[in-house]
Amino acid sequence: MRAIHIPRLDGPHAAELVEVDEPTAPDGQDWVVIDVHAAGVAFPDALQSRGLYQHKAELPYIPGAEVAGVVRSAPADAHVQAGDRVAALTMLTGAMAEVVALPADRVFKLPDNVSFEAGAGILFNDLTVHCALRTRGRLASGETVLVHGAAGGIGTSTLRLAPAFGARRTIAVVSSEAKADVARDAGATHVVLADGFKDAVRELMDGRGVDVVVDPVGGDRFTDSLRTLNPGGRLLVVGFTGGDIPTVKVNRLLLNNVDAVGVGWGAWAGTHPGYLAEQWAELEPLLASGAVSAPEPVVYPLERAADAIASLEERTATGKVVVTVR
Ligand SMILES: NC(=O)c1ccc[n+]([C@@H]2O[C@H](COP(=O)([O-])OP(=O)(O)OC[C@H]3O[C@@H](n4cnc5c(N)ncnc54)[C@H](OP(=O)(O)O)[C@@H]3O)[C@@H](O)[C@H]2O)c1
Repeated sequence: MRAIHIPRLDGPHAAELVEVDEPTAPDGQDWVVIDVHAAGVAFPDALQSRGLYQHKAELPYIPGAEVAGVVRSAPADAHVQAGDRVAALTMLTGAMAEVVALPADRVFKLPDNVSFEAGAGILFNDLTVHCALRTRGRLASGETVLVHGAAGGIGTSTLRLAPAFGARRTIAVVSSEAKADVARDAGATHVVLADGFKDAVRELMDGRGVDVVVDPVGGDRFTDSLRTLNPGGRLLVVGFTGGDIPTVKVNRLLLNNVDAVGVGWGAWAGTHPGYLAEQWAELEPLLASGAVSAPEPVVYPLERAADAIASLEERTATGKVVVTVR
């Protein structure tokens, strides 16, 4: 089969198109085999290509954490069968290939109204954001959500999902006017620039703050994010695209009665059997009914996987990025 290989840890541009054997299930296990149509790209793909992610893959490896495609074969008792259109999690490598083989609990039926390109861009971000807003962040109806890196993958996912989970207002924080348009298209009710966002939010909110901050960026805006919270507010720590891992002076939590909350979706799913299926049971009807729009990804052909991954590292990516495989 055709697949992308990362042969050395020199960054995204080391990615090359290769011919490799199709994957098979480990001995004694019956897995779902999927003919892949598209694979999602996420920030960890860029980090992994430099050996900077917490999960270290053995070289050479096939990048990518999620796919959409058609089931070729499945165990008789699985919830999916040959011919089903599905999205699936390879977590955290293996996706950019014509075929994947996975345990059935990481495969989810796609609603008919979701294309393969969009389907390859749903699970990784939307389930992380579901974990952030619903499980860890306790988002309540009528609350205001602010999201950093709002034109990125996690950002646009937050803007699409937060209203369906009860948010009355979503404030997008972005670094440029071009990204402001992307955030508005994803549903932001307000957009502010990263520079000076704290004061801009105070003005927007008539002196008040926000209830929830979704933070995939970290770095030097962390303290201002804490200052932007209302009493009882939650700052959800999702990632560190800004590079630096911030530290918290915990007196700020005490003085203002706010929480800094870790969101490690993969680790949560790993320690809560059945969690992914519960998440999909909540998300799938929202996608099928159109209550939550599917992502509209930027699509690259498989041959340009290196450029697709590099666009996240170079901060030029907008929305979700996907590579088409067939
Ligand atoms: N905790 C979890 O379970 C979990 C799950 C999935 C992903 N994540 C993490 O979430 C983060 C976001 O992932 P993503 O796929 O949404 O990434 P993405 O699409 O590249 O978006 C990240 C955003 O971060 C902002 N940013 C600020 N400084 C940056 C810099 N130096 N380089 C690149 N971007 C920068 C950019 O927005 P502006 O230019 O507007 O500032 C960009 O749009 C990553 O750290 C990822 O590892 C965590």
